[in-house]
Amino acid sequence: MSIKNICCLGAGYVGGPTCSVIAWKCPDIKVTVVDLSVERIAQWNSEKLPIYEPLLDDVVKECRGKNLFFTNDIKTAILEADLIFISVNTPTKTFGNGKGRAADLKYVEGAARMIADIAQSDKIVVEKSTVPVRAAESIQNILYANNKPGVTYHILSNPEFLAEGTAINDLLYADRVLIGGENSGAIEQLCKIYEHWIPRKNILTTNTWSSELSKLAANAMLAQRVSSINSLSAVCEATGADVSEVARAVGLDSRIGSKFLQASIGGSCFQKDILNLVYICECLNLPEVAAYWQQVIDMNEYQKSRFTAKVVQALFNTVSGKNIALLGFAFKKNTGDTRESPAIYVAKTLLDEGATLNIYDPKVEESQIFKDLTHPSICESPEQVRKTVKVCEDAYSATKGTHAIVVCTEWDEFMVLDYKKIYDGMMKPAFIFDGRKILDHEKLLEYGFHVQTIGKQLRKPTPPPRMTNNHHV
Ligand code: UDX
Ligand code: ADP
Repeated sequence: MSIKNICCLGAGYVGGPTCSVIAWKCPDIKVTVVDLSVERIAQWNSEKLPIYEPLLDDVVKECRGKNLFFTNDIKTAILEADLIFISVNTPTKTFGNGKGRAADLKYVEGAARMIADIAQSDKIVVEKSTVPVRAAESIQNILYANNKPGVTYHILSNPEFLAEGTAINDLLYADRVLIGGENSGAIEQLCKIYEHWIPRKNILTTNTWSSELSKLAANAMLAQRVSSINSLSAVCEATGADVSEVARAVGLDSRIGSKFLQASIGGSCFQKDILNLVYICECLNLPEVAAYWQQVIDMNEYQKSRFTAKVVQALFNTVSGKNIALLGFAFKKNTGDTRESPAIYVAKTLLDEGATLNIYDPKVEESQIFKDLTHPSICESPEQVRKTVKVCEDAYSATKGTHAIVVCTEWDEFMVLDYKKIYDGMMKPAFIFDGRKILDHEKLLEYGFHVQTIGKQLRKPTPPPRMTNNHHV
């Protein structure tokens, strides 16, 4: 038997793009993506998808209504499916044991219970969400404890390695697909789906625990590279070295490689997974290993606070009453996702210091910005945030009349703005803080901006030309 019908529980950043690509590449398979949220499914069925991801609109348009369906009818989708992906959210626990670190598996557990309640025939259940090691075991326990006679489950781990902003490309040209499991027949069935477009040699099969740990390990090692280069950016600023030059020199060593060596403001989706790894290490009584990975997170936090402190210091140690423009609010370019975005930290610190903010991001909705900034962990007074934050339509209106600009996301459009025009419309002295190292700093200095960036000392701005009648011959 080959898989004819797939159901995906969770229509988020992982489930949505992954299943769209599966549907596109496997026209012989019916793919149904379900979610508890009525609003989210309505958006998937509309012209404006709930997530922004380059190429996603095209793929969805091509398949939706043919072999790709989005629905809240979870029951029918589970009943019909041969294979079920679980790609629900796995936030960090906000309470109880492991608070602030361990993954909250309530949604994964909820998904497993739904399958157990509804299923009436054999299912391959595939864990796609990034989960702590041994989560597949919990899913298996729930399914078997609630088993109906004659229904068999095979549990597989198939972690997703897509990065936001490049999800479709990452799915189409995956470096590898990882499938962990104990049942070779079930593994083979899932392999066959991916073989529609991924060469067999790039499909790796392992035991369940290796697969689960590999996902956490990959993210931890990527984050470690970013934290390492960010730690060196502080040394560069203190010595006069340039972190871009250092990264290039180091990255050209083929043993090291050039990717993920871009120093920046810090902050990332990695935090959740590494916190998870740290917590697991502690539970396994491996405190030294836990401390090692904790330091990667701490370095990321340090980078954010170091950068923000620099902004305040440069603005004569007080931003109270000053108007500051934040360019970019997403955690990276080409996505509207703001989860763990460094912009939230920057905004919070500047608001706490008494600044008023103009914020512009090409893809983050105004409602999302206010949701993030009025979250109880960020502010005590949502009314105050609404009074002091303005979300703007474009970079020009966001920067007009401000004392300083802080670039928080590396959107391409920020590289080609008319900074002369922006400078002319700002309060003087005009400051710009390039948290992503994307701007032409020499040009900005020539225009008269005071410029600061990560991992590099910059000279003072070119003084404005003197008036000729001041010259004594
Ligand atoms: C990451 C992993 O890359 C992906 O494989 C996994 O499945 C999910 O987590 P994602 O979080 O979408 O993907 O983005 P990624 O490109 O890894 O960037 C994470 C953060 O690190 C971003 O804030 C980014 O700006 C930052 N980063 C990345 C740097 O600061 N410097 C770099 O060199 C690379
Ligand atoms: P990710 O980035 O991991 O994809 P998201 O938060 O974007 O996470 O998406 C997860 C989705 O899973 C949410 O839309 C949430 O409503 C959905 N979800 C959670 N539990 C269930 C469930 N039991 N059945 C279906 N969908 C679920």
